[in-house]
Amino acid sequence: MNIRNIKTTPFTDQKPGTSGLRKPVTVFQKPHYLENFVQSIFDSLEGYQGETFVVGGDGRYYNRQAIQIILKMAAANGVGKILVGSEGILSTPAASCIIRKEGAFGGIILSASHNPGGPEGDFGIKYNIGNGGPAPEKVTSAIFEQTKVIDTYKILEAADINIDRPGSFKLGDMSVEVIDSVESYLELMDSLFDFDRIKEFIASGSFEMCIDSLHAVTGPYARAIFEKRLGAKEGTVKNGTPLEDFGGGHPDPNLVYAKDLVEIMFSENAPNFGAASDGDGDRNMILGNNFFVTPSDSLAVITANAKLVPGYKDGLAGVARSMPTSAAVDKVAAKLGIDCYETPTGWKFFGNLLDANKATLCGEESFGTGSNHIREKDGLWAVLFWLNILAVRQESVEDIVKQHWQTYGRNFYSRHDYEEVDKDPANELMDRLRSMVGEMKGKEYGNYTVEYADDFSYTDPVDGSVSSKQGIRIGFTDGSRIVFRLSGTGTKGATLRLYLESYEPDASKHDRDTQEALSDLIALAEEIAQIKKFTDRDAPTVIT
Ligand code: G1P
Ligand code: ZN
Repeated sequence: MNIRNIKTTPFTDQKPGTSGLRKPVTVFQKPHYLENFVQSIFDSLEGYQGETFVVGGDGRYYNRQAIQIILKMAAANGVGKILVGSEGILSTPAASCIIRKEGAFGGIILSASHNPGGPEGDFGIKYNIGNGGPAPEKVTSAIFEQTKVIDTYKILEAADINIDRPGSFKLGDMSVEVIDSVESYLELMDSLFDFDRIKEFIASGSFEMCIDSLHAVTGPYARAIFEKRLGAKEGTVKNGTPLEDFGGGHPDPNLVYAKDLVEIMFSENAPNFGAASDGDGDRNMILGNNFFVTPSDSLAVITANAKLVPGYKDGLAGVARSMPTSAAVDKVAAKLGIDCYETPTGWKFFGNLLDANKATLCGEESFGTGSNHIREKDGLWAVLFWLNILAVRQESVEDIVKQHWQTYGRNFYSRHDYEEVDKDPANELMDRLRSMVGEMKGKEYGNYTVEYADDFSYTDPVDGSVSSKQGIRIGFTDGSRIVFRLSGTGTKGATLRLYLESYEPDASKHDRDTQEALSDLIALAEEIAQIKKFTDRDAPTVIT
């Protein structure tokens, strides 16, 4: 076995963000860049020698090359066995499912999620721990510390392995299993949802749906589940072949980037149900006929209807949402008499709550929903959850959501993103707000009175760890709220996110346009934060 020890020097920019290390492909292609990070993962772990790891990615450009490098480095570092998705494909939820099912030590997921791909696009790498979830902060910090001092990495000199189809190989002393990318995931979904009932519902002919995989990783999963297993007609899954550049698109399932689906779903003869997923398959967007379900509402509706779904019929231990996510689910939790946790942005904060069985369902406003079945958010799981609810209730998406609002009130909600603005002024904007919030309580702005204002800090109820500076929250006495934070996943400049929420109990006002319903708060956010001045932008780049 020929293991080479390669001399290297640290890169100063390998600090993992909200979800792993994300950089332009060209950065990852720099000599030693990927290798340094992978070696730093191994160097920060203890007791992994001889153990099993899972590796796969969303199929974007550089996925295959990165996998070959990781395999050879894993072999050189004493890993026992690696499971690799066929063709290098594993959706993020499928990787989480396989890590858990196989009792693996951990996994390496190659994805930049919803960021565009291709030679000029982004690439990413993320380490997941044995529970199947993203590494918590103490692990990512340890990796980052290693990246600052690394001086050598180990790699096996060997030919590339054929990962195009399932098979077993040896790389030095390490076994490599190339596995079917879909099988384990499909089995897990089958165990949670009433597939027979959904199949019957689809076969009834009165229900049509359209699933857009945006040329990203969910294509093979969606075809296997919806078309082959659940009998939806061929062509139900659009853009179902994963492409290295996602067909030049932005694989983010929202109203702006999933515009083909939005056009279909908002047309005259729209199908009853539409959904899209992101690059690595952990996000979802749910649409009805001429109707958009906000992710915050989707979490609330799923929670309220969970007892209709076999995997959740015995009740929920609790729910969790990220801080900027609307409080719609809080109302459902209160009615169900279960705990509702508010965590910082990023799925990694749900891991402890799920492991400790404090929460069963969780979600983020950023089109992420999931449960304790794995430790990642799960796009197709959310689609199946909705299908199961629809099959049981036999009502339209719009009716289900509107009835929900009647019962719980409506949380009007929107996120305004200012993408790729200059970093320094964006930081100044945040620093300025940080210095203001201490004195804001009780302050009046027109009709609004500040009930609380802070920079969100979270103490994990399971391990007591504290995560501070997680976003500026300004809550008003009428239940409305403005939140500001800077993105931790962007790769160019800074992205300012402004989250707006107001609560409307009166059903006669539920049909208002969201932006209009929030217009006073939007103006107030500008007044308080001076967004135009600091970002040099007149308007957000994306509104969801
Ligand atoms: C964004 C979302 C966040 C999500 C993350 C990974 O992070 O806002 O909810 O967990 O992507 O998908 P951000 O760029 O805001 O740090
Ligand atoms: Zn994603």
